[in-house]
Parts: sequence; structure tokens; C-alpha cells
Amino acid sequence: MEENILLVGFMGSGKSVVGKELSKILNRDFIDTDTEIEKEEKRSIKDIFNNDGEDYFRNLESKLLETLVDKNNCIISTGGGIVLRENNRELLKKIGKVIFLHADVEHILNNVKNDDTRPLLQTEDYATKVSEMLESREDKYLSSADIIIQTSGKDVESIAEEIITLL
Ligand code: S3P
Repeated sequence: MEENILLVGFMGSGKSVVGKELSKILNRDFIDTDTEIEKEEKRSIKDIFNNDGEDYFRNLESKLLETLVDKNNCIISTGGGIVLRENNRELLKKIGKVIFLHADVEHILNNVKNDDTRPLLQTEDYATKVSEMLESREDKYLSSADIIIQTSGKDVESIAEEIITLL
């Protein structure tokens, strides 16, 4: 039985693509917390935020995280805000090994531009919003992480290989 691997990091840092790659290489099940919430709610993250607000979404996210404590052998990609609640940060450690995918701000801006699926970035000045959010979250990602990986300028395969060598 293998410990779960969790990927945390800001929107656009590559959690989902790297998670899928890891799941393929290691032949383990892949879980994406946003996708699980969308399946459960039968609507998009954008719809959830627009109709019920961020707190409602955060409660769903925390509830889902609790159910992952019972899993093994999984690669779990998480929503960028999963580290915001202290209780979530504690749960992440219980669920498995936490990998923080650290991307620089240019890399993130490039990945999230023209993306209307991320409700927190639907503002004219999303570059400022991203910088502010990154700054306020950095410590939370760092304190949750067992391993930190720089992703900027690297392809998905090499990031996945790097993680595997560090496990
Ligand atoms: C969020 C990140 C999103 C999603 C929601 C909120 C955040 O996930 O959970 O839009 O607060 O950073 P991704 O990191 O997969 O984009």
C-alpha cells in the first residue's frame, strides 16, 4: 500500500497536468478535488461561486478533503485555495505526502490568461490580483509542503520525473 501524493499550488502551476502524468507513470488512481466537487454538485466551479459564493465552495472543498483520509495509492490534485483553512492544511498532511508546485508569477499569468473558468480571477486587473494572492498564500503552501518543486520553464514529464526521484 502506497502513501497518497497530493499536489498543492497556485492556479495555473500545473497541478492537474502533472497529477495526470504521475498517475500514468506510477499507475495510480488520479483524483482532482475540483472535478470531484463539480461531479458531486453537477455544476461547474464557476456556477458554484457565482450562485452560492466562495464560502459555500470552501465548505464543499473541506468536506471532500475529509473523505480523502481513507484513500491510499492515489495522486490527488487540489484546488489552489485548499491551503487557506488551517484545518485543511492539517488534513493534507494526514492524507499523504504534500508536493508544492511552485511557479513564478509570469508562468502563472501566462497559464491563467483568457481563462474564464477561474472565478477568483475574473477582474480587469487580474495580474495585480494574482500577485496579491500569491503573496498572501505563499507561507501557507510552504508550511503544508513536504517537498517543493519549481515548475517554471520545465515540461510536465520532467516535473513528474523530478517528483518521483524525490519521493
Ligand atoms: C481556486 C483555485 C481553483 C478552484 C477555485 C478556487 C483558488 O482551482 O478551486 O476556482 O482559490 O485558488 P485550480 O487551482 O485548479 O485552478
